[in-house]
Amino acid sequence: MRACLLILFFFSTQLFAEQKVWLTWKNDPTSTMTVMWISPDSEKNDEVHYKKSDKADWKVAKGKHWKLPNRKPFLVHKVDIQGLDADTIYNFHLGDKSKTLKFRTMPTSLIQPIRFVTGGDAYHKSLKRYQAMCRQAAKQNPRFAIIGGDIAYAVAKKDSEEDWKKWQEFFGCWSKEMRDKDGCLIPLLVTIGNHEVTGSFNRSMNEASFYYMFFEKATYALNFGNYAHFTFLDSNHTQKIHGKQTDWLAKTLKNSRNQPHRFAIYHVGAYPSSGKIDSQTSRLVRKHWVPLFEKYKVNACFESHDHAYKRTHPLLKGKKASDGVVYIGDGSWGVPPRTPKKRDYLAVSAKKQQALVVELSSTKRTFKSVDPDGKVIDTYEQAIQGR
Ligand SMILES: [Fe+2]
Repeated sequence: MRACLLILFFFSTQLFAEQKVWLTWKNDPTSTMTVMWISPDSEKNDEVHYKKSDKADWKVAKGKHWKLPNRKPFLVHKVDIQGLDADTIYNFHLGDKSKTLKFRTMPTSLIQPIRFVTGGDAYHKSLKRYQAMCRQAAKQNPRFAIIGGDIAYAVAKKDSEEDWKKWQEFFGCWSKEMRDKDGCLIPLLVTIGNHEVTGSFNRSMNEASFYYMFFEKATYALNFGNYAHFTFLDSNHTQKIHGKQTDWLAKTLKNSRNQPHRFAIYHVGAYPSSGKIDSQTSRLVRKHWVPLFEKYKVNACFESHDHAYKRTHPLLKGKKASDGVVYIGDGSWGVPPRTPKKRDYLAVSAKKQQALVVELSSTKRTFKSVDPDGKVIDTYEQAIQGR
């Protein structure tokens, strides 16, 4: 018994030996950074020490922590650092200078193009597969990354609790691999998928307790300076598609219509590649959200859940139209890919594990799908003029 406990302790400390730190934004990405991390529950420090990389003096930002569900002996910490300079690299640490990390704020305008990566269905069964995609995504030197649900496949199964080890491995790999060419941690933005929720669809936030402990929200919006807008949505997992969420979406898209680059992110697609066209969720997305994406001319919707690569034609009311909305992605960051079906709305599809690299400039946006070896699966370009 004692030997068993010692072995268990050894593996849990080994798993926790690497830092589980991630960056995200809860506020303006040009002047703030949110630092989050997981620690054993004995480490209650909620301070981040930070300084511009070319300055000597450290400042301290204070935050808060909360306990994980299911009596796990760990804490989630959050520190919002405010008043940062735009487009600037900062050094930071959590109290141990020897473990100094770096972050970079976003620019206020698109003087230079910026790049981000997006995908979904990240850490399925194979850590190797997830890690390979992370490595390739980081090689693209993105300023941030978006995972559109099914993040760690840790959801509680019948008669068992949520797989906490999967979350630790997800964050451990993310902290280690997702660094840009200057060594800055790449901020993570997410929304929720069915594998974060016990029961998958039509559930409450209580049934996705770990997701909400780590990420706090599934429906939110972020504006980047005067150049980009992102709306994150919950495709019927813990919030209904119609009603309150759709009303919020209408207001949010209306208020952001002057941003030149506009995107929506949610898990289950309006226009799936390998799944059923007429699943209840896809029908509800088409009925309630697609008319708003079309009305407010969203440039692209990043969809997941189908474990393949897809890019639709620009679509209006389900038909090809040059000024329509493109639905792209389909969730194959770290899963074995599935075979897409033949569908009229698909311009390109592939049975491929991939991440999408999106570059925004003042005149255009480009989309490039890459596999874990860096092989380009598809490229697509949209000009800003005429939108
Ligand atoms: Fe899914």
